[in-house]
Amino acid sequence: MSTILHIDSSLFGSQGQSGQLSRQFVERYVQAHIVEKVIYRDLVSEPIPHLTAESFQGFSLPEEERNVQQKHIANLSEELVGELKEADILVLGLPLYNFTMPSTLKTYFDHIARSGITFRYTEQGPQGLLKGKKAYILAARGGNYHGTPMDTQTALIEHFLGFIGISDVEFVYAEGLAKGGDAREVALGKAAERIDQLVD
Ligand SMILES: Cc1cc2nc3c(=O)[nH]c(=O)nc-3n(C[C@H](O)[C@H](O)[C@H](O)COP(=O)(O)O)c2cc1C
Repeated sequence: MSTILHIDSSLFGSQGQSGQLSRQFVERYVQAHIVEKVIYRDLVSEPIPHLTAESFQGFSLPEEERNVQQKHIANLSEELVGELKEADILVLGLPLYNFTMPSTLKTYFDHIARSGITFRYTEQGPQGLLKGKKAYILAARGGNYHGTPMDTQTALIEHFLGFIGISDVEFVYAEGLAKGGDAREVALGKAAERIDQLVD
């Protein structure tokens, strides 16, 4: 039995292509496996606030010394980390916006990268503290980047997840969605095939 943490960050909510693919993945996965729970977050309809110096400094204070704002942000961060710890499987709908991840997702990452909780620094370098998790990334893109130096998004996501200990990461790409002709249908068909392979 497993728990899935499903996170979307498309401006277009459930109509966004990455959200449709991530939902397709989760639905197929739930049909094929015993899943106890699916936790869902839409980072656009319920955005996470940007960190400030005050809220970031609050993370390293003992709870009783945090002010009201610091308590609020530390509690939110702990809730997000708690969801991640509970999950065996992370499913991310990942739009490409202006060559990188949506700012809402970056802000989410800022709240889950917690020193001593999700990573720590050792003499050998940083060590991720989340263990035994698998991530599936459903990436939707207007153009074609995968396998080229322009695809900085893949490396960034892989690096970040690896930093907190999630090194088993699979990507599904739907690329060229804005190219016209039959490019969109072809890309979505390939993504659906890849989802089927990964789920079975
Ligand atoms: C604000 C914005 C920025 C975008 N920037 C890029 C880009 O840099 N490269 C690209 O290939 N497509 C870009 N696109 C197209 C999206 O990657 C494409 O529409 C994809 O489907 C987005 O995922 P979504 O449908 O889940 O929102 C952009 C779209 C938007 C709305």
